[in-house]
Amino acid sequence: MADADGTRPRHAVLTVSEVVQETASAISLKFDRPSCGDFRYQPGQFLTFRIPGDDRGSVARCYSLSSSPATDDHLKVTIKRIAGGYGSNWFADNAVVGSEFEVLPPAGVFTPKSYDNDLLAFAGGSGITPIMSIVKSVLTEGKAGITVVYANRDDRDVIFARELDELCRAHCGRLTVIHWLDSLQGLPTPELLTRLVSPLTYTDVFVCGPAPFMAAVRNTLTGLNFDQNRLHTEVFTSLSNDPFATNLSPESAGAATAHVEIDGLTHVLDWPRNRSLVDTLVDAGIEVPYACREGECGACVCTVTDGQVTMNRVDILEADDVAGGLALGCQARPASDEVSVTFD
Ligand SMILES: Cc1cc2nc3c(=O)[nH]c(=O)nc-3n(C[C@H](O)[C@H](O)[C@H](O)COP(=O)(O)OP(=O)(O)OC[C@H]3O[C@@H](n4cnc5c(N)ncnc54)[C@H](O)[C@@H]3O)c2cc1C
Ligand code: FES
Repeated sequence: MADADGTRPRHAVLTVSEVVQETASAISLKFDRPSCGDFRYQPGQFLTFRIPGDDRGSVARCYSLSSSPATDDHLKVTIKRIAGGYGSNWFADNAVVGSEFEVLPPAGVFTPKSYDNDLLAFAGGSGITPIMSIVKSVLTEGKAGITVVYANRDDRDVIFARELDELCRAHCGRLTVIHWLDSLQGLPTPELLTRLVSPLTYTDVFVCGPAPFMAAVRNTLTGLNFDQNRLHTEVFTSLSNDPFATNLSPESAGAATAHVEIDGLTHVLDWPRNRSLVDTLVDAGIEVPYACREGECGACVCTVTDGQVTMNRVDILEADDVAGGLALGCQARPASDEVSVTFD
């Protein structure tokens, strides 16, 4: 959505209104919605935070919203300490009520298209955060039944244990949470998971958790011949770029001409051959949607309506959609002299 002056609001400042100690190693940070900017979000989306650095300058980290747009007035993210990690420990050690953070608007494609298709969700550890938002939204605004398989090392690591119990009681028959504790059941293997989920009926599967857990779930679903187009995954990695920086790709000799439609305005500008479209627009002071700037989140999806582009990473888009003209603005470089692009 555009501001009154026709520009799309980008960075916003969020102020912590509450810090909740969820478990010994996980905290939630609640924020009031910012008064300016478009902070509507879909369940399963994430925010990108700028964290003050020490000698490393500032760093950026993504955190899924565990709040739901259907049930919560505030915004909430839930962060688990990672041994040796910079950002997660910085938040746990420094964030207090009143702390202010520069954030990029909500982004991401780990979100259900329909709230009426039965869901099976697999969450490992902090992977419960986007699932929690999806569960609350679907229960409140849809008709789907949901089964969540939630894996943790032991019961002290279970984030949102009480909230999930309460949701199960309030939505009896629609929500089932199956807790998997490694301390009691061992690591979840494809064989064990297959036995667990074989009797269930579901249309879409959402998976978020540590890499070995996600691999076990993938192998389980492959063994069950589950339609991969119905499998939605969110991988929790740390960004290597700083998406708050004004320019991430080098200048190069030669430029194409870009015709870019955003928020009803068409901009015509030089597009250097070796520079991404997002970098080119940011550099020109044109507000454009983006979050990770690494081809991972889908915030910068656009449509090439004329001309050609090349892209380094595009694996989050379906091949058919790319063939139909969808592109990632943070990955796209011009491959023809004139390129026309539209951002929805
Ligand atoms: C879309 C998205 C949503 C996310 N949502 C959540 C969420 O809801 N909750 C959550 O807790 N996390 C979430 N994450 C993960 C989060 O962004 C961070 O990746 C996570 O908090 C770890 O960051 P960190 O800075 O603490 O660790 P980092 O400093 O990035 O380190 C991560 C690991 O790498 C190791 N490491 C660091 N530097 C080096 C080095 N030089 N050599 C070798 N090893 C090294 C560290 O020891 C640590 O084990 C999400 C990620 C994405 C992309
Ligand atoms: S900004 Fe995340 S995919 Fe382009």
